Amino acid sequence: MYTSDQEKHLFDQGKSLLEDTRPLETQRQDMRKLREVINYADWKYYVQSEPVFSDYEYDSLFRRLKDLEEAYPAEITADSPTQRVAKGLSEKFPPVAHLVPMLSLDNTYNATDLRDWDRRCKEYAATSEIEYCVEPKYDGASISLLYDDGKLVRGATRGDGVTGEEITTNIRQIKSIPLSAAFAKDGIEQIEIRGEVVIHKEVFAAFNEQRAKEGLSPLANPRNAASGTLRILDPEEVRKRRLSAVLYHISYVHPQNNSSPLSGEEANHYDSLQYLYNLGFPTPVKEMKRFKTIDEVIEFCGTFEARRDDLPYEVDGLVIKVNSFELQDRMGMTSHHPRWAVAYKFKARQATSKLRRVEFQVGRTGTITPVAKIDPVPIGGVTVTSVSLFNEDVVREKDLHIGDTVLVERAGDVIPYI
Ligand code: IVH
Repeated sequence: MYTSDQEKHLFDQGKSLLEDTRPLETQRQDMRKLREVINYADWKYYVQSEPVFSDYEYDSLFRRLKDLEEAYPAEITADSPTQRVAKGLSEKFPPVAHLVPMLSLDNTYNATDLRDWDRRCKEYAATSEIEYCVEPKYDGASISLLYDDGKLVRGATRGDGVTGEEITTNIRQIKSIPLSAAFAKDGIEQIEIRGEVVIHKEVFAAFNEQRAKEGLSPLANPRNAASGTLRILDPEEVRKRRLSAVLYHISYVHPQNNSSPLSGEEANHYDSLQYLYNLGFPTPVKEMKRFKTIDEVIEFCGTFEARRDDLPYEVDGLVIKVNSFELQDRMGMTSHHPRWAVAYKFKARQATSKLRRVEFQVGRTGTITPVAKIDPVPIGGVTVTSVSLFNEDVVREKDLHIGDTVLVERAGDVIPYI
């Protein structure tokens, strides 16, 4: 994305802008510089997780840009970092047709399934050797982004796969998603990119704590929280919920014969995500791995599953993709899923059990919390015997009775939930 020289330049530029205390009128020329510096700071913070400015410094730069834009509104650009924030939406999200349908994935659960899939891949591709690219299967809400002439013009939910909901305003609240990108240098006029919106576990936990304080029932898991948040009509609220995004697939590029690594005989998935990353997009460059055989893939699946709790967000498996675009095209798709990709699902974090009794816990402040006692059931390596029911409303809402069969979910480090 940035060379180290550019990084140094932008950082120094930020610092010197911060030291500039001249009156606003004299700083009109700085609007472009401020945008560049803030975009750089956002990228460091949200894509690289390596903040370069303090919160105070960042806020001062942001405020300066806002003040200048207020004074010179004609000079505001659509991709200015200030333009992520928007007024509330009054309407529901209108339907949009995806340029290419958003397909699902076929699932595998063990080594035998993966070997069968590998065999079918080789039949469809009519080849004896295939390179695979493996990356996390993010457990969030899928989105589709459209860039026209390098500008983000549309963000959509998956919907039924053919038609999604237009959620551009909310997508713009996600700071890791670039509002513009330098596709033009490679002759790319239009590109549709797919990915997942996720909530980091710690953000989710804090969010549920806040809900509990407000007497609201908690959300079951980060996935529901992410997809629910994308449909909130108040973009300010969306921004506060600190969503993250990971982009993992390019579904459409125009023109096809462009000068980027997306085009040509050697073009492949791994390089495509590296390419997007270099343009500032959050893609799984650190997590994705290439393998020459299915045995290596299977081994990686095992080691990765063992480490799943170390990740800051939820994953429910891995996705294995045929790396070469040419082979992908040769293999094609069914109406449900591409033949060149498959999900390897980790062990579920849900289980059913029986509700035996309810105990009431009294907190420090005197609040009473009902706690369900259930038949012990193992979920994701932990035996669960008690599950908080939060408050009376939750019990009523779920219409819980002693002896009921209950579905318990324990998402990562998140507390179990009925
Ligand atoms: S590829 C045609 N890659 O899983 C390409 N999907 O259960 C299809 N998902 O609908 C998608 N992480 O929303 C792909 N690394 C990843 C993914 C991923 C999560 C989601 C995606 C898909 C669902 C299928």
